[in-house]
Amino acid sequence: MKLFDVYPLFDINIVKGKGCKVWDDRGQEYLDLYGGHAVISIGHSHPHYVEKLTGQLNRLGFYSNSVVNKLQVELAERLGRISGYDDYQLFLINSGAEANENALKLASFKNGRKRVLSVAKAFHGRTSLAVEVTNNPKIVAPINDNGHVTFLPLNDLEAWERELAKGDVCACILECIQGVGGVNMATQEFAQGLQAACKKYGTYLICDEIQCGYGRSGKFFAHQWLGIRPDLITVAKGIGNGFPMGGVLISPEFVPVYGQLGTTFGGNHLACTAALAVLDVFENEGLVENAHLVGEYLMDELRELQQRNSHIKEVRGRGLMVGVVLDILHKEVRSKLIYEQHCFTGCAGTDILRILPPLCLTRDEADDFIQRLETVLNQL
Ligand SMILES: Cc1ncc(COP(=O)(O)O)c(C=O)c1O
Repeated sequence: MKLFDVYPLFDINIVKGKGCKVWDDRGQEYLDLYGGHAVISIGHSHPHYVEKLTGQLNRLGFYSNSVVNKLQVELAERLGRISGYDDYQLFLINSGAEANENALKLASFKNGRKRVLSVAKAFHGRTSLAVEVTNNPKIVAPINDNGHVTFLPLNDLEAWERELAKGDVCACILECIQGVGGVNMATQEFAQGLQAACKKYGTYLICDEIQCGYGRSGKFFAHQWLGIRPDLITVAKGIGNGFPMGGVLISPEFVPVYGQLGTTFGGNHLACTAALAVLDVFENEGLVENAHLVGEYLMDELRELQQRNSHIKEVRGRGLMVGVVLDILHKEVRSKLIYEQHCFTGCAGTDILRILPPLCLTRDEADDFIQRLETVLNQL
């Protein structure tokens, strides 16, 4: 059997990782400013994470959601405390798309509505509702195109208020820092205005924190920079540092109903152990603060580089979620970074480098990246 060939691949076989470094099968070391697509939060193969997961695997790999799982309870308590959402409830699933799918279902169960407002260039996943609220017609199959969604420009509050005033909107879904869309940032004025309009018209506000959240922005959630408190918050990626996992943080206004949501694998013992180990390391190593400080440093250094090299048009982002807008296509830059400078980065659109390192990135590693990027940009 052949693989279903949907991914354009770099011809590199990564076999080992440590912190912000990975190695291929020929022993070549790479600096990882991509974190396997914003997934690696505490660094590759963190010893505490490895120890906790191996210990759990030796005790129990899996049992179903039909019995008490104290690890889930512990995770909900710890996550509530560290994120400032003690009073919220946690539902666990296996991926980001599933998190958004369940958040949208919860909103619709509660207010009985079907319409959703989403942002131009938004990405929320590839399952039925998640892909319908994703603004990319190429990945929306006819079966997913059910006319539930209106896409509106980010930060155009008036346009959102006009739609909300129609009184039929179930939910608004928002990445406070867009990932795939190109590191576009919601303003405080927009976010606060949107929250107020949602409350006024009985619409639920969902913040998709799957990429920009879980410490990456330098606060636990990116929306916390904007002074809002959404009704539903979706998380995935960094929550398990590579263990497939997602979650929905649900405001106390939502009362759970037996059987209304459910999953076979969600919140299993290994996933919860991974998520608890991630929170241990966040606290022990101050990783959210590190993302803030090293992120600021990295952006300052990138802006310095912009003074020396005209290929950089703009540097934007927060914490360790940084977009570098180029005046050339990112393709050649990324390819040279990987094959010549041995450094992974992400991308968005055709001309944006998306920097998404593990949250343990050091200043020295940031300097190292700047040097490698400057070498590449000087050649083009
Ligand atoms: C903002 C955002 N939401 C949702 C998703 C979907 O997550 P998953 O691929 O785990 O389904 C992604 C994945 O890139 C994302 O960046």
